[in-house]
Amino acid sequence: MALQYTFPEDFWWGSATSATQIEGAASEDGKGLNIWDYWYSKEPNRFFNGVGPETTSDFYHTYKEDIQRMKDIGHNSFRFSISWARLIPGGEGDVNEEAAAFYHRVIDELLAQDIEPFANLFHFDMPLEMQEKGGWESREVVDAYAVFAEKCFELFGEKVQKWFTFNEPIVPVEGGYLYDFHYPNVVDFKRAVQVAYHTIIAHAKAVEVFKKRSIPNGKIGTILNLTPSYPRSQNPADLRASRIADLFFNRSFLDPMVKGEFPEELTAILREHGQLPEMLEGDKELVKRNTAELLGVNYYQPRRVKAKEHLPNPYGPFMLDWYFDLYEMPGRKMNPYRGWEIYEKGVYDIMINLRDNYGNIESFISENGMGVQDEERFMENGQIQDDYRIDFIREHLKWLHRAIQEGCNAKGYHLWSFMDNWSWMNAYKNRYGFFSVNIETQERTPKKSAGWITEVSKNNGF
Ligand code: BG6
Repeated sequence: MALQYTFPEDFWWGSATSATQIEGAASEDGKGLNIWDYWYSKEPNRFFNGVGPETTSDFYHTYKEDIQRMKDIGHNSFRFSISWARLIPGGEGDVNEEAAAFYHRVIDELLAQDIEPFANLFHFDMPLEMQEKGGWESREVVDAYAVFAEKCFELFGEKVQKWFTFNEPIVPVEGGYLYDFHYPNVVDFKRAVQVAYHTIIAHAKAVEVFKKRSIPNGKIGTILNLTPSYPRSQNPADLRASRIADLFFNRSFLDPMVKGEFPEELTAILREHGQLPEMLEGDKELVKRNTAELLGVNYYQPRRVKAKEHLPNPYGPFMLDWYFDLYEMPGRKMNPYRGWEIYEKGVYDIMINLRDNYGNIESFISENGMGVQDEERFMENGQIQDDYRIDFIREHLKWLHRAIQEGCNAKGYHLWSFMDNWSWMNAYKNRYGFFSVNIETQERTPKKSAGWITEVSKNNGF
């Protein structure tokens, strides 16, 4: 039967993970502590069912069999992250040789199976000592990160061509400095802006170091969670609210990291409210010179926005919601098992925006996925029948396909995630994998979607 949706040759089929979420072995072989290990030791009850990151899906020990499973389901690419606290315990100083050997083994195994490694340098997991120095608020930490990045290029650059400086850099800003769902649990807009700004500087420094090394066929980029902003109506107040939400949540990182420029309207708002970060001479040029060559797009749900109904207290501290309210559009389609909206066309809208306003940068869907609580309820004959996930992926792929037909430079699709894993405060609440994982026994079982994606990746379409 002819395929209705065929993807370009060499399309990247795969999945995404992160070190803290899959490795386990949190205190093995000399790994240092990161903020998650620490926060969990202090406040275990803030994590769903009191479960912390120490075991997770044990990839540290099972990587070989897991990579075989990736091969079996047709992956030709796979994203993992390198744990800074594992590779350089404390964040500065000597490389932990056992950690370097582990990442070499993972990369070698991927290459032996013809799966291209996509290496990410930071996925929310600040080494504890670096956090104690001020985390991303501190310029010293930015410099230590650039040294860590350079170490990674030096150690693994001969084997890995695709590199990413950050995953979703806005999330530690929101979680750690605005809304209290990541350590250090600060709620302070000005400090949040400094953290965001320094993350962008750290990205630029890592890109600069990368370019100096000139890794053959190497590309460096970043991974952003882009949430297209849709206004409630076309009236000017709703349109403005939506534009400002887009500035804060998307363009704040997208513009400097891809275009090398901070959006003027955003800078003006921050200046007006006395919220500009501290900047050093030369920063602007550094950001301008070191833009991403490749962009990973994490897309889960859109952001629907309306004008504010009540004016904020002008004497209260400045907050994002001075400018807009979120809007629950009647009739929107929801993921009933996670609580996020499902809007497949968002993928297309993001890609068209990148094509038209960001030089059609080479990009891919680096995360998309459907979290499901209590997924065991869909178990039949020993397998999770996740038809909802198959529909979810297929419908997003259709829109991605259309974007490619219309000239967007989208090169692949990675699901979040390869297997069920631990996820920050939500711990094991929401399951996302192609494989279910029994955390007690570490047994993996392919879900129905694993069989489906095998066919899709092998046929390069459906
Ligand atoms: C993504 C993150 O935004 O969301 C992942 O990059 C995370 O690290 C995923 O696991 C799912 O989050 P949650 O809260 O539904 O488990």
